[in-house]
Amino acid sequence: MRITVAGTGYVGLVTGVCLASKGHQVICLDVDEEKVKTMQQGISPIYEPGLSELMQESMENLTFTTDYAGAYKNAEVIFIGVGTPEKSDGSANLSFVYQVAKQIARTAENNCVVVVKSTVPIGTNDKIEQYIHDKQVHDCKIYVASNPEFLAQGTAVRDTLHASRIVIGTDEKYAADILMQVYEKFDAPKITVGRRSAEMIKYASNDFLALKISYVNEIANLCETVGANVEEVTLGMGFDKRIGDYFLNAGIGYGGSCFPKDTKALSWLASFNDKEIRTVKAAIEVNDSQKLKLIKKARKYYDDFLFLNIAVLGCTFKPGTDDLREAPSLVNVPLLLEDGARVRIWDPVGTENFKKQVPNEKIQYCGSIEEAITDADICFIFTEWKDVCDFDVTKYQKLMKRPIVLDGRNCYALDQFEGTGITYGSIGRKTINDTEE
Ligand code: UDX
Repeated sequence: MRITVAGTGYVGLVTGVCLASKGHQVICLDVDEEKVKTMQQGISPIYEPGLSELMQESMENLTFTTDYAGAYKNAEVIFIGVGTPEKSDGSANLSFVYQVAKQIARTAENNCVVVVKSTVPIGTNDKIEQYIHDKQVHDCKIYVASNPEFLAQGTAVRDTLHASRIVIGTDEKYAADILMQVYEKFDAPKITVGRRSAEMIKYASNDFLALKISYVNEIANLCETVGANVEEVTLGMGFDKRIGDYFLNAGIGYGGSCFPKDTKALSWLASFNDKEIRTVKAAIEVNDSQKLKLIKKARKYYDDFLFLNIAVLGCTFKPGTDDLREAPSLVNVPLLLEDGARVRIWDPVGTENFKKQVPNEKIQYCGSIEEAITDADICFIFTEWKDVCDFDVTKYQKLMKRPIVLDGRNCYALDQFEGTGITYGSIGRKTINDTEE
């Protein structure tokens, strides 16, 4: 089929490349000329495992362009995968989505299905359809369907090719049939539901996962107080199939492009409709305070951080991505700097983005974990990169000035620190070799 994908971020580009790999003729459209030039050479502008390889294998079915008129003119299906960033009041900014809708209305000449993949508030698909019909120039039938995206960064290609489910939101048989054809070669359960339900499935799923993480983080905090170990607790919980053993890892809070934004958006949507979604509001509050958990722990060892050498291992919101959106490091590093600390950061792929977001000459970027921890007074772990998890922990003692390691992602087993001189604090577990200044 002739498919155009508007937007080449994590959702758009991965969708376009995966569709092309299944034999569709895909045009990927973006407003950013530099990005388009990069992609025309078969290079992915984002770091996503497996994406560049699949892109190169599928280049004969892929076109990259900034020419929206050409891209929409004869398309049979148009995916909207542009960003819906958070506005200051927590609601979703839909200006990019409407910009695309306007261009489609002006230029589409074929009957086509516009598929909204971007996460949008419930009811937006109805509005987009009305908007396109009001502004439509050519005499053709344009349908609008919702098809929310559930991919996680770092596993986006796998999550798309082997999706947990494909949700098709439409009441129109024509649109449902076309989308079934689009996804014919995808091995995943496919369900067709009403458009508003499809929009809600996305928020309800993401917010449920966010809630699960915040719940487990609160349990972890309580475990520390009462002397239980959160890993043992979640091990015991996870055997119950109704609970499941995924997304039960305690840590310093969730980040990324979805959970923080989608929890706030649903909370905003509820209050806009004079309702309150208290569980989600609680998840947001818990997450905000969880992000500061390690700094609070560190205060036990240092009254302030003035002139301290502080090692930071990992700055991305999770491993396997260079994305920093809502990453705990973005809250913590500025606080450490404000307090007068000298911060040394190691991260395998996130430092370039970090430099842009937190420009500060007091930050030193390191090429190895060893370099970051040498002479450090304390070390914070914000991301569970494999290099961190596999690191020989005795080196913390050998290289740091004062070996205090505060681990926000529970990268190590506690017994790795028993009998060492390293103070090791983590989330929801007892602190090993606890000392005070
Ligand atoms: C998420 C959803 O998983 C995906 O389905 C949706 O489409 C987009 O949002 P993503 O943000 O890429 O994907 O990452 P995910 O792996 O879900 O992790 C999000 C955050 O939660 C990370 O900061 C991660 O560290 C944290 N997390 C995850 C935990 O703290 N504990 C867990 O058990 C799982």
